[in-house]
Amino acid sequence: NGSGELAGKRVVITAGPTREPIDPVRYISNHSSGKMGYALAVAARDAGASVLLISGPVALRAPAGIEVRSVVTADDMLQASSQAVDEGCDLFIATAAVADYRPESCASDKIKKTNEAMALPLVRNPDTLATIAGRQDAPFTVGFAAETSDVARYAKDKMQRKNLRMIVANDVSAPGLGFNSDNNAVTVFWSGGQETIGPDTKQAIGSRLVALIGQHLKQG
Ligand code: PMT
Repeated sequence: NGSGELAGKRVVITAGPTREPIDPVRYISNHSSGKMGYALAVAARDAGASVLLISGPVALRAPAGIEVRSVVTADDMLQASSQAVDEGCDLFIATAAVADYRPESCASDKIKKTNEAMALPLVRNPDTLATIAGRQDAPFTVGFAAETSDVARYAKDKMQRKNLRMIVANDVSAPGLGFNSDNNAVTVFWSGGQETIGPDTKQAIGSRLVALIGQHLKQG
């Protein structure tokens, strides 16, 4: 699609969860299925973009015409994203549900069940989105915000703190929407405006998001 909203643009999208290993057989993760990120990737491809998906472990197939680079941990996601932006990127969209913390160390052997209670020390993971948006040569950067309360306030705060051009707020407390569902409802915020999209399928929301982001990208 040489005349689409994103014709000639290189788009990098993070999707899915990350997994943070505890020992050789266990990890910390979350309920992200990757569906929202993959739907956005398809919509961006259909709008004429060259699309790279940086994907955590998901059960989805690589969509036709889209390169997928698979990652496991938050560290991997940052490394793959930084490399992708080094290679050239006009638009970076972070839909991934990255684990905020990881176990301080990964045990080399399976942890045994000995005590009645145990504590697992955690350390902060790097923030891919904030790192990309903070680069001198940052692409147009769009984040997501999964929230369960005070959605608009937290989302707008994240947009400012992480230096984003737009943020897609996802109320993940609504039943049947958000994590792991085929449907979603979001509100997009940018400096001076907002738009609510859905409830609808993630594919329909992806298409509308791409149109909206494309308009703002053109305005520079
Ligand atoms: O995958 P699905 O099942 O389709 O579900 C879609 C979704 C609910 C996961 C998606 O729509 C969504 O809301 N993604 C963001 C989830 C999230 O973890 O949000 P957050 O508020 O914790 O993070 C804010 C932003 O920073 C996100 O763009 C996130 O990708 C990014 N981030 C966060 C932490 C981190 N270490 N690195 C990041 O890049």
